[in-house]
Amino acid sequence: LLWASCFPKHKSTQRPRNWLLPQACTFKVAVLGAGGGIGQPLGLLIKMSPLISAIHLYDIANVKGIAADLSHCNTPSEVLDFTGPSELPSCLRGIDVVIIPAGVPRKPGMTRDDLFNINANIVKELVETVADNCPHAFILIISNPVNSTVPIAAEVLKQKGVYNPKKLFGVTTLDVVRANTFVARKKNLKLINVDVPVIGGHAGITILPLLSKTRPSVTFTDEEVQELTVRIQNAGTEVVEAKAGAGSATLSMAYAAARFVESSLRALDGDGDVFECSFVQSELTDLPFFASRVKLGRNGVEAFVGSDLQGLTEYEVKALEALKPELKASIEKGVAFVEKQR
Ligand code: NAD
Ligand code: LMR
Repeated sequence: LLWASCFPKHKSTQRPRNWLLPQACTFKVAVLGAGGGIGQPLGLLIKMSPLISAIHLYDIANVKGIAADLSHCNTPSEVLDFTGPSELPSCLRGIDVVIIPAGVPRKPGMTRDDLFNINANIVKELVETVADNCPHAFILIISNPVNSTVPIAAEVLKQKGVYNPKKLFGVTTLDVVRANTFVARKKNLKLINVDVPVIGGHAGITILPLLSKTRPSVTFTDEEVQELTVRIQNAGTEVVEAKAGAGSATLSMAYAAARFVESSLRALDGDGDVFECSFVQSELTDLPFFASRVKLGRNGVEAFVGSDLQGLTEYEVKALEALKPELKASIEKGVAFVEKQR
């Protein structure tokens, strides 16, 4: 019940499933980068999921103790540890959902793009092994810069001949979690009910909360729109600066990732009413990848909620046009990185 009460369910029509009913624990989940600031709390949160039968924790070091620790929680999933590239294939075989928070985080003064040189290669190598061992899994990319690492993953999967655009996700859930929190506080709303779609990408001005599409419907002054938009766009930097060199968001990110994992598992389990924002291959705009609300199903992205992009305010239309050049450049940088190494 703790797990169930954590995540508001943004479902459009059906009643929420009854979490008190026993459910089959059928899905296997792998976390790559499981020893890190995100990986550890994420492991804990997903250990509470009633839908998971096995959690595979992978890192280049220090994962044995974390797995031993986590395995003592009396929830149904078994926990296995895998260390270093030689154990990665066995970590991935039979996996339904792979989550990748491997890589370095920002320090104050850095942009997410400053992480490209290190994280691009980490994501490329991990996704190569994913392609060889669980090509049909949902792949959830957390490692920054997401605007480039997702296109990198797509190119790797294409080269391996196993790319399924419906199953590759950039995790932008933290932007939605933040938007919901900040809007609920500002407007004195019951937090569990608030849902703000966040579109575009996951860096600076490419993060575009659509405040006009907030549910329940609420009005904002121009000043509130400006203040909330900038706060949501800079929330990652807010944490980086507060941590003063000790990394970036980990706990809120683990919470957001656990929510996306839970939505993925519900979709895989046949729940026909699961919606999340995610940075995916998209035809909603002229950009090849774009974050928007999508409907998730057994085969991944089932539909795009294109209506979110209709009837935008003048502010949102301008912000959408303004983010496109930066997002386009980040996507192209990711694609070029993989092409260069062919
Ligand atoms: P961290 O340094 O605490 O942990 C990263 C982990 O990755 C470490 O345990 C490290 O050993 C591991 N790692 C490094 N190379 C690896 C490899 N080749 N294979 C497997 N594991 C490897 O960092 P963190 O705070 O957990 O952040 C991880 C990443 O997530 C960063 O790139 C950060 O920018 C990103 N992030 C994204 C979001 C988002 O919203 N998408 C939010 C927060 C952080
Ligand atoms: C975030 O939004 O918190 C992450 O992308 C980490 C960062 O570098 O800000």
